[in-house]
Amino acid sequence: MEEDNEEDYLNLIEKLEEYSSKHKYLFRICLLGDSGVGKTSVLTRFCDNSFKENYNSTLGVDFRIVTLKYKDVISKINIWDTAGQERFKSLAVNYMHHSHGFIFVFDITNKESFENIINWINLSFDTNKNSIINFLIGNKCDKDSDRKVQQDEAEQFAKERNLYYLETSAKNDENIQKLFYYITYKLIKYYDKNDYYEEFDNLFNSGHSEEIKIQRPNQSKCSC
Ligand code: GTP
Repeated sequence: MEEDNEEDYLNLIEKLEEYSSKHKYLFRICLLGDSGVGKTSVLTRFCDNSFKENYNSTLGVDFRIVTLKYKDVISKINIWDTAGQERFKSLAVNYMHHSHGFIFVFDITNKESFENIINWINLSFDTNKNSIINFLIGNKCDKDSDRKVQQDEAEQFAKERNLYYLETSAKNDENIQKLFYYITYKLIKYYDKNDYYEEFDNLFNSGHSEEIKIQRPNQSKCSC
């Protein structure tokens, strides 16, 4: 554990139903990865606690906003669900610019989706070097018998790139809440120590994101 009581974050974060609560922070998180790895399913599990077996490919980009409270701090988390299809990649880039965190998703039963993660990472970090917290997710861990990517291999890959690593199942609701709660917790901790620019959104929206200088925090091991 890198900080005292860090293990408490799961108990201390609460999801609020009211959309209108007054928030201190607005964070943007971007889900990225090949088509069919389960990005929409991860998001739907987190937001609605539901799962669909049938596959409807995302067209362009979708988003959800979730209100989370950590102690007294209310944050809105705007989660962008980008389409994995190649033809939508240039659209996804627009949302990378604005992100405080990236979640790179692959399917543990699909080796190619893991091999392609490096392309998503390169594209994201070429677009936005300022994201604060970044995760690699091996989704569909309920299908362990069909596994094509070993956990050790993915962990090593993540470690070399300063990414946190977690295996999830949108189907069985494994580690989904933990993923988003941990990201939110780390972002709140980060901005409680560093200035949060109130004009952040305006700057981004007016295309002046280069004016924002965010220091990357010291990298630390995932304690999830
Ligand atoms: P694009 O929108 O094309 O980029 O795909 P996506 O990454 O959003 O994938 P999506 O969430 O639509 O899921 C693709 C398929 O995988 C669907 O049939 C889901 O039911 C299935 N799926 C997603 N997550 C899981 C999981 O954790 N376990 C299992 N067994 N299936 C999953």
